[in-house]
Amino acid sequence: MSEEITYADLKFQDSSKKENIHEFDGVGIKAPPAPFHGWRQRALALTLLCLLLLVGLGILGSIFYTTLKIETGKLNKMQNFKEELQKNVSLQLIHNKNSSKMIRDLSITLQEIATKLCHELYKREPEHKCKPCPKAWMWHEDSCYTLSDHYETWQKSVMFCSAQNASLLTIKNKSVLEFIKSKKLRSYWLGLSNREYQDYQNLDETIIPSNWLTQRRNDVNDRMFCGYINTQYVYYEDCTFRMKFICEKLANPVEVKSTLLSEIPDGKYS
Ligand SMILES: *[C@@H]1O[C@H](CO)[C@@H](O)[C@H](O)[C@H]1NC(C)=O
Ligand SMILES: *[C@@H]1O[C@H](CO)[C@@H](O)[C@H](O)[C@H]1NC(C)=O
Ligand SMILES: *[C@@H]1O[C@H](CO)[C@@H](O)[C@H](O)[C@H]1NC(C)=O
Ligand SMILES: *[C@@H]1O[C@H](CO)[C@@H](O)[C@H](O)[C@H]1NC(C)=O
Repeated sequence: MSEEITYADLKFQDSSKKENIHEFDGVGIKAPPAPFHGWRQRALALTLLCLLLLVGLGILGSIFYTTLKIETGKLNKMQNFKEELQKNVSLQLIHNKNSSKMIRDLSITLQEIATKLCHELYKREPEHKCKPCPKAWMWHEDSCYTLSDHYETWQKSVMFCSAQNASLLTIKNKSVLEFIKSKKLRSYWLGLSNREYQDYQNLDETIIPSNWLTQRRNDVNDRMFCGYINTQYVYYEDCTFRMKFICEKLANPVEVKSTLLSEIPDGKYS
C-alpha cells in the first residue's frame, strides 16, 4: 500500500519536475511570466485604441460628409436665390423703365392736350390765365408777340425788345407770315438791318431765312437802311428814323394745372 502511495508521489513529483523543467526552458529564452502578461494587455489596448480611432474617424468622416452635403445644398439654394433675385431685379428695372417711359409719354400727351385747350381758351378769352405769354402779348403757336405803342429808332427798338428778353420780329415761316399779315400792321420795324437802299418787297418774298440775317452792329447809322412792315409789304428806311416795332419771344410751356383745372366760363362755348 505504502509502496503504491510512494509511487504515486514519485509520479506526481516527476510530472511537476517535468513541468518545472518545461517552464524553466521557456523562461530561459523569453521574458519572465509577469511582464509577458502586461505586453499582451498593452497590445490589446492598442488594438482597441486603433479600433476606437477608426470608428471615430468614420464618425468624423460621416459628419464631415453630411455637413458638406448640407452646406453644398445651402450654397446651391443661396445661388438659386441670388439668381432669382437678380432676375427679379432686372425684371423690376425693365418694368420701371417701361413705367417711366409710359409716364413720360403720358405727360407729353397731357402737355399737348393742355396746349391745345389753352389755345382754344385764349381764342375766347385773350387774357386767360393759361396763356403762356406776358400780359397784353399776343400768342401764336409757340411764340409771343407784342406791338409797341411808341416810336423808336431801329436800334432803340432792338434794345427795347432785348429788355423784354425778346427780339425784333423775324418772319421765317408761312404760319407766322399769315399771322402777321392778318394784323394789317402799318410802319413797324422788323429785324432787318444794315442794308443798302432797297426797293420795297412783297412780305411773302421775305420768308427765305437768309433775308433775316440781321447784323446787330452798333454802327447802324443814317447811311444804312432798315426794314419795316407796311400791310403786306416790306419797305426800307433810314435806320435812325423813328417807328413803332414788333417784339417776339418764345412762349413758356403751357401750365397743365392752370389750363385743365380752370373753370370753364358758362355760355362761352355755345
Ligand atoms: C421673384 O419674383 C417672383 C414673382 O414676382 C416672386 O414670387 C419671388 O418671391 C421673387 N423672388 C425673390 C427672391 O424675391
Ligand atoms: C416693357 O416694354 C416692352 C415693349 O415696350 C415689352 O415687350 C415688355 O414686356 C415690357 N416689360 C414689362 C416688365 O412691362
Ligand atoms: C415758325 O417760326 C416761329 C418762330 O419764328 C416758331 O415759333 C414756329 O414754331 C414756326 N412754325 C412752324 C410751323 O415751323
Ligand atoms: C429776362 O430774363 C432774366 C433771366 O432769365 C429774368 O431775370 C428777367 O426777369 C427777364 N425779364 C423779363 C422782362 O421777362
